[in-house]
Amino acid sequence: MATPPTRTDALVHARGLTKRFDKLVAVDAIDFDVQRGEAFGFLGPNGAGKTSTMRMIGCVSSPSGGELRVLGLNPLTDGPRIRARLGVVPQADTLDMELRVDENLLTYARYFDIPRNVARARTEELLEFVQLKDRARDEVEPLSGGMKRRLTIARALVNEPGLLLLDEPTTGLDPQARHLVWDRLYRLKQQGVTIVLTTHYMDEGWTRRKSSRPGRRAA
Ligand SMILES: Nc1ncnc2c1ncn2[C@@H]1O[C@H](COP(=O)(O)OP(=O)(O)O)[C@@H](O)[C@H]1O
Ligand SMILES: [Mg+2]
Repeated sequence: MATPPTRTDALVHARGLTKRFDKLVAVDAIDFDVQRGEAFGFLGPNGAGKTSTMRMIGCVSSPSGGELRVLGLNPLTDGPRIRARLGVVPQADTLDMELRVDENLLTYARYFDIPRNVARARTEELLEFVQLKDRARDEVEPLSGGMKRRLTIARALVNEPGLLLLDEPTTGLDPQARHLVWDRLYRLKQQGVTIVLTTHYMDEGWTRRKSSRPGRRAA
């Protein structure tokens, strides 16, 4: 298949994107474009390089080679500006167990200098959106896996990101909890949020545009 034409208006633009860890090639020269409003999925088994790719898009890991632009900016020089406009749901839950449900969002909002009253209103709205409003004052620890994942999604939306990155958002959840996460993501897409996500569940390769290659060891 021919290399897709370069589209400068893509929210994520990658050509020959590569990540190496010493001799291990974790991401092997992949090309993709994520257009505004699109939901884009990386589908592949464990070890395929999905998290490595997401971390490069999220500007927390530098590419070893190739070209990458996120929101039209260069992650190497504009990392903080890009990160301020991203929503990130990491593969492992990183919720603060010391804080209550609503406090997890309010505290996160402070990193983005969101005024307190705006953060309060947004927290209420987002907890409603992820169906956790009645748990707002509860501890995080006893929440189910699905609830924690939904709370992490709400947290990722606090800064009203134009681009939402989700690394295996449904992994480890039971079918009902997975369904609820997918339903919320579907609504976000309808609201115009651009979504990039990964999954290793073959039945969740729901987007027509998939891109992932297994990592391989260099000879
Ligand atoms: N920080 C790291 N140091 C060394 N190897 C790594 C590191 N992160 C990932 N890898 C390796 O890179 C490959 C791809 O991993 P990863 O991107 O986590 O894949 P996936 O998310 O698709 O399961 C794996 O072989 C993994 O062991
Ligand atoms: Mg992973």
